[in-house]
Amino acid sequence: MGSDLHIVVLAAGQGKRMYSAIPKVLHEVLFRPLLHYVLDVAYSMRPSSVTIVVGHGEEAVRASCSGYPDLHFVRQAEQKGTGHALQQAVPFLREKKGRVLVLCGDVALLTPGSLAPLIESKAAACVLFAEVAHPKGYGRIVRNGEGTLARIQEEADCSEAERRISEVNSGVYTFELKELIPALEKLTNNNKQGEFYLTDALEVLVRQSSKVELVPLKDALEMTGVNDRAGAAQVESILRARTNAYLLASGVSLQDPKNTWIDSRCEIAPDVRIESGCQIIRSTIAAGCAIESGSRIVDSKIGPHTRIKQGSYIEGSSVGEVCVVGPYAHLRPGTVLERNVKLGNFVEVKKSHFAEGAKASHLAYIGDATIGRETNLGCGFITCNYDGTPKKNQTVIGARVFVGSDSQTVAPVTVGDGSYIASGTTVTENVPPDSLVISRGRQTTKPGYAAKYKPK
Ligand code: UD1
Ligand code: CA
Repeated sequence: MGSDLHIVVLAAGQGKRMYSAIPKVLHEVLFRPLLHYVLDVAYSMRPSSVTIVVGHGEEAVRASCSGYPDLHFVRQAEQKGTGHALQQAVPFLREKKGRVLVLCGDVALLTPGSLAPLIESKAAACVLFAEVAHPKGYGRIVRNGEGTLARIQEEADCSEAERRISEVNSGVYTFELKELIPALEKLTNNNKQGEFYLTDALEVLVRQSSKVELVPLKDALEMTGVNDRAGAAQVESILRARTNAYLLASGVSLQDPKNTWIDSRCEIAPDVRIESGCQIIRSTIAAGCAIESGSRIVDSKIGPHTRIKQGSYIEGSSVGEVCVVGPYAHLRPGTVLERNVKLGNFVEVKKSHFAEGAKASHLAYIGDATIGRETNLGCGFITCNYDGTPKKNQTVIGARVFVGSDSQTVAPVTVGDGSYIASGTTVTENVPPDSLVISRGRQTTKPGYAAKYKPK
């Protein structure tokens, strides 16, 4: 970080209207906290410092931001207004020179392009504003005779006439630091809400004839702040539409873009087809894959031309090329499927490795196991990996093994290459290569006996 731009993100508020134990800025939209969208924009401006004013849920906010380097935290112990919040950063900013950009932690839709004119300006202050159809709740832009800013009037303090003003304050500003600090010292809480309003700092600057610029926001949607759950849902759907529009333009097919939720950090190659109701989070999907409806893929990598059939849940896994998984398969963390593996319906796999061409086509549980090339696991096969102690035991099944239906292996155990496990077998001892293993009672058939058990 090395410019004369300093950024302060206001994020101390509780968000009363969320009715939540979680601080507002940590509510997730499209699989990420609101605050992270704001921090991403902040860091993209290459500032020389980023400060975040925290209060409600401070510990949780700090923990959630651990991935952002050199983030400076300032505490606002009591929430006495946006002006008071920024005052808390003054001891840190006093030593600095240049310009400060003020952002709110709940404004997740802002784009760097909209901020550029505020940063490039040399005015004492700039206010990003927009004209909106429903100004309710926002501070109104009150202009003077020459059309420049006179002051920003908060909704609570508006006269009837002021309430009809449709130009509103986005809550995003830049200030020359040397102008801001004395203006902040002049704030009072002499208003309807008894708060120290940051907006009043602009009136202070106007009154002392410092230059204050009004910068219009082209797309008013970008200033949407989240005040309640409905607002969060609205922001989430806008973020979804943005990401999906980008994917469609880059060659990804979405059957129902309004009902497809893809985290913006995913990498999805061209010629991937994603059906309705899928959710894809922090994952990579290679070219030519088909992801059937209702699947959820988290922290995973899917190789080229693989088909994930309906309703599958894949987390922390790596799936190779030309595999077929599902319908209704569950791949849990640590699963690796090499090329051309087939997992069918109701197959659960955890922390296991399937070599090329291995199959488990129906109803199986495979945990802590290594499955060799072209091995076939029959219907109902289970690796018994858990003996009630925390340590999970390993199962190793070699290449070209045929495991009959309704069999179990009790780990730790190894089955050699080319072996044949008869159906209904419980394997408890290591099996050398090319063996036949059978462990079940011999069949007894008593002709005519069925009649004895039937009602007379
Ligand atoms: C603010 C503006 C309003 C603008 C609107 C845009 C003021 C007085 N009003 O109003 O003109 O139209 O944003 O969304 O600034 N915060 C703190 N500490 C506090 C109070 C707030 O950190 O003591 C933080 C909040 O966490 C939030 C941000 O400041 O991230 C904005 O606060 P909020 O209460 O939402 O301000 P508004 O009343 O919406
Ligand atoms: Ca707000």
